[in-house]
Amino acid sequence: MSHPVSAPRTAAPVEQRVAAIEAALSDRGMTANHVVAELEHLAQEEWLPQNGARVVARAWTDPAFRARLLADGRAAVAELGLTMPRHHRHLVVLENTPTVQNVICCTLCSCTAFTIVGLPPDWYKDLEYRARVVRQSRTVLREMGLDLPPEVEIRVWDTTADTRYMVLPVQPQRTLGWAEPELARIVSRDSMIGVARLA
Ligand SMILES: [Fe+2]
Repeated sequence: MSHPVSAPRTAAPVEQRVAAIEAALSDRGMTANHVVAELEHLAQEEWLPQNGARVVARAWTDPAFRARLLADGRAAVAELGLTMPRHHRHLVVLENTPTVQNVICCTLCSCTAFTIVGLPPDWYKDLEYRARVVRQSRTVLREMGLDLPPEVEIRVWDTTADTRYMVLPVQPQRTLGWAEPELARIVSRDSMIGVARLA
């Protein structure tokens, strides 16, 4: 018996594919709904840059914590009750100084330490940023509103599946002596990615 020549295959609409996955899961006694709801909750209420901001504020006010954070980020953030997925094996914290600006990217996709610095913004996932920040970092930062003087060295760090990064921004002079919660409020997601400095 001969088979008819099939027409070129096109992907089914996303709704249809989702329905197929749900059906396959429910055939096995699993439900997708609570998993999706749990992920939504995590993304919207748990994986927020405010976590990293607490870490930064603690590092600014507690030199011993800062040293532990730079030595082993994963262990240090756990002291503040913050966890990372098992496959994020290392959290490497990059210390900015007045003359060094660390910047994070993921040239392959969009990896971040998302439980600490929050889910990556759209521009971080953009091919334009991923490709250009490595080769033209100074220009890309300027386009993003961070115009660094020539004496500032820019170091770009490419995230991998098991090594995640977080930038420790320089504490603005005007905030010296502030309490931790106040400090945490001024720490932005972009400053922990390294595309902004705090003033
Ligand atoms: Fe990635």
